[in-house]
Amino acid sequence: MKGMLYYDSKYGSTKQVCQWIVSEITIGQITINHITERMKHNVDYFIIGTPIFIGKPMASVIDFCHANKHYFKDKPLFLFITSWAESTIYRDECKKFLDMLKFHFKGHHLILVESLPGKLVMDKITRKDRKIMERLLRRLDNMSNEFQSESILFNDQRSEKLSRNFGRRINEVLRDKSYLF
Ligand SMILES: Cc1cc2nc3c(=O)[nH]c(=O)nc-3n(C[C@H](O)[C@H](O)[C@H](O)COP(=O)(O)O)c2cc1C
Repeated sequence: MKGMLYYDSKYGSTKQVCQWIVSEITIGQITINHITERMKHNVDYFIIGTPIFIGKPMASVIDFCHANKHYFKDKPLFLFITSWAESTIYRDECKKFLDMLKFHFKGHHLILVESLPGKLVMDKITRKDRKIMERLLRRLDNMSNEFQSESILFNDQRSEKLSRNFGRRINEVLRDKSYLF
């Protein structure tokens, strides 16, 4: 059994999450590819991952999904997102982010979807992105009395345990062939 994981990343942190996920997949072979790499479609299943930026999956990943839709047809698909919100009390928002990603796979064979915590270090992002983030936080501060951006810690919240758990769940599905049911 062969699988391909395709992902994109702006600041590089999602690659490690991919590595943790695949480290638990012991059924057959699985390869990690950046979405700019050549499409290798002669496989049994796909895993696709994207970070969330300004409330959306990366446009590059959505474009990649549409461009390769015919290859995904009838293959088991596993999707994941990484985000800052997942590690906060606002993690419910991530359901919406996941729904946005799932929307682009309507009619496909979606087996598992997962939201995983990511990494956001304010002084390691571009000035433009920092400004975008500041605007986003101001908007959230104004929208809700409970939201207090000053109380939020922005750091590396990636979780080896949660990422590996997702990999393990994928492995179980592949092992039990439960995607056939
Ligand atoms: C400009 C900017 C906007 C972001 N917007 C969101 C957002 O709307 N919601 C969220 O939960 N995380 C948001 N994030 C956090 C990213 O999803 C998180 O940092 C992710 O792990 C980055 O992955 P990467 O290092 O692979 O690019 C944002 C980060 C940046 C820099």
